[in-house]
Amino acid sequence: MFNTLPEPKPDAIIALIQAHAEDPRADKIDLGVGVYKDGEGRTPVMRSVKEAERRLLERQDTKTYTKLTGNPDFVEGMQTLVLGADRGGLAARLTGAQAPGGTGALRVLFDLTLRANPQARFWYSAPSWPNHAAMLANLDVPADTYPYFDAETRGVDFDAMIAKLDGLGAGDVVILHGCCHNPTGANLTQEQWERVTESAVSKGWMPLVDFAYQGLGDGLEEDAEGVRHMASRMSRMMIATSCSKNFGLYRDRAGCAIVLCEGAGEVPNVTATLASVNRLLYSFAPDHPASVVAEILNDAELRADWEAELGEMRARINELRTGLAEALRQETNSDEFDFVAEHRGMFSRLGVSEEVVKAMRADAGIYMVNDSRMNIAGLKADRLRDFARAVVAARG
Ligand code: LMR
Repeated sequence: MFNTLPEPKPDAIIALIQAHAEDPRADKIDLGVGVYKDGEGRTPVMRSVKEAERRLLERQDTKTYTKLTGNPDFVEGMQTLVLGADRGGLAARLTGAQAPGGTGALRVLFDLTLRANPQARFWYSAPSWPNHAAMLANLDVPADTYPYFDAETRGVDFDAMIAKLDGLGAGDVVILHGCCHNPTGANLTQEQWERVTESAVSKGWMPLVDFAYQGLGDGLEEDAEGVRHMASRMSRMMIATSCSKNFGLYRDRAGCAIVLCEGAGEVPNVTATLASVNRLLYSFAPDHPASVVAEILNDAELRADWEAELGEMRARINELRTGLAEALRQETNSDEFDFVAEHRGMFSRLGVSEEVVKAMRADAGIYMVNDSRMNIAGLKADRLRDFARAVVAARG
């Protein structure tokens, strides 16, 4: 039977991890998968995570099942992190479920949507994180792109985006990146978030915010401003969060599917449906990483240390952005890449061709996704000139 198995399409991002690992060159640079690296190129376990794990290890006296919707302290903690103090005053209309990472949260919300409306159509930005399209194709549901990135300016083509969104309506679900757009690094301004919200409210389409990088752009609060505005105006919305990046819990898989209901009366059935979806997909989401996050969020000392370390990570990324824009300015004698300093989050799409990306990989051992998405956090301050020279050399 397996002889008829079609070969799966490799995931471009995951394939790069392997290709980089197999490259014997000592001076290779990994700018592929979205993993934070410190100045020494390491991805250490965060201090607050280590301490929370130590406390849990000491305290935990059972590994019995939790709830199908996960650890309630984690779910409430994530709702507060995303929506702000007092959960944006929306607590009575909120529900949610723990999920295995941001991908798990997205999948749960796709399933929830399809249970409510099997005819739902999904929309994601052009371009977007490749797993958006891949997961929707796997579900075999109608899905298409809305315009987002302007390849000329390397900024957001907002006129085209909003024209498309204004043409949507009930039954349409629009995936928005909450901050730190993946793969481009080009983000909506607060004014643009307000306009997008107005479109959702007046046209009746449903926002699903993929919020995987909170705290890695301008700050925990700043990065959430758009999402918070939207939540304050929408009658319903969905948010998929991830703790992979901002808690460095990549392999442990902690994420949360958050749902804002129209009223408190809707909450019990949405909660029961999230529990049922979890049960059918994987039963219980992994407890350990979610309990670590709950421990950090609910302990003033741990939380302060987590915020401080996250702040150091963010500062390093933004310093690298300024340094890289400067190195590219000097090596290219142009302002072509100045946008790198303006973008936010782990990624920027450089805007060079696939041939250039491949030449940089072959000749200089620099690994970027073929669409020229680079993980800024994979750079080292003393290699910025090398990177800029490699861009110039590969372009010929
Ligand atoms: C990325 O975009 O590199 C990360 O979100 C990792 C992944 O799962 O693709």
